[in-house]
Amino acid sequence: MAAKRKALVLGGFTGLAATAQANVLEEAGWEVGRLGRADLDFQAADAFGKLERLLDALEPDLLVNGAAYTQVDAAEDNPDAADFLNRAVPTALGRMVKSRPSCVLLHYSSDFVFSGKKRSPYTTDDLTGPLNVYGKSKVAGEEALLSLGLYNCLVVRTAWLFGPGRGNFVTTVLDLCRKNSSINVVHDQTGSPTYTEDLAHCSLKLVEAEAHGLFHVAGTGEATWCELADEAARLVKLECAIRPVTSADFPRKAARPAYSVLDCSSFERVTGGKPRPWPQALRDYIYKYTMSGGDEPDMERNADRV
Ligand SMILES: NC(=O)c1ccc[n+]([C@@H]2O[C@H](COP(=O)([O-])OP(=O)(O)OC[C@H]3O[C@@H](n4cnc5c(N)ncnc54)[C@H](OP(=O)(O)O)[C@@H]3O)[C@@H](O)[C@H]2O)c1
Repeated sequence: MAAKRKALVLGGFTGLAATAQANVLEEAGWEVGRLGRADLDFQAADAFGKLERLLDALEPDLLVNGAAYTQVDAAEDNPDAADFLNRAVPTALGRMVKSRPSCVLLHYSSDFVFSGKKRSPYTTDDLTGPLNVYGKSKVAGEEALLSLGLYNCLVVRTAWLFGPGRGNFVTTVLDLCRKNSSINVVHDQTGSPTYTEDLAHCSLKLVEAEAHGLFHVAGTGEATWCELADEAARLVKLECAIRPVTSADFPRKAARPAYSVLDCSSFERVTGGKPRPWPQALRDYIYKYTMSGGDEPDMERNADRV
């Protein structure tokens, strides 16, 4: 029998993307080690040394970087922390896999690397132009990794994640809809809602195709936050009016791109597949996880996510 392939997943106990990636790898027969902040806090002294020793001991075929600074508004006041997690950490991981060519690094980046001035889906050839500190730190991270020119490194930009585990925009909306007869949701930002399980399956396809470089993986189609909220509430049959408001009505510390839909043709060219349309993925997620009330939103943290 062939030996199981091994993966080490950073953020694998709590991260929205990382937990889904770890689960999908396990379902696909990989041996998966998960590292949480309690095992490896990147802010701690010798964190990189500790990770190097783990890589030498475990010899994984895949290192998944699901650890990141993801609080978009808080990043405006904490640029050093965002830069460290989103640029310095992936840069160090890139150097680690450079000297371990049998280990592939899978790193996630974000639609927030774009300015949002375009009105057609962003391709991997489009120039970046981040509007906020978080976006700048994500650009710096992906540029540092791509500049290494590695054949064993995948940078996957994704967007507007929803999925089981940590609360997310969808769980926040459903919670608010259960408690209120109407809620206001922004209608002038358009993006690509993406199910974490679909992101994980698509990322695994890229790994299996031995792809390297930059890819976009996001739910097919586009929506405003308001349209996403409306569809989620409709699926759960909640009697709550979703009222469209503008970003100006709902000021946030960090500016967000008005349009950040991702064109996934880079993924399609390599794998021959296409991510699912987001409404189909949302239906699966809602029926599987949120109808039972099992997915508890973390309201405080959610308020500052994308
Ligand atoms: N969420 C989205 O909608 C979205 C959209 C586009 C792109 N992305 C990208 O997708 C990736 C994953 O995002 P996500 O939403 O899954 O993130 P997330 O749920 O916020 O998880 C981030 C993970 O990083 C860990 N972490 C944070 N600081 C750490 C530290 N100092 N040392 C070790 N671990 C640390 C967190 O641990 P704790 O739980 O202990 O804090 C958590 O496990 C990121 O690169 C993000 O930029 C996300």
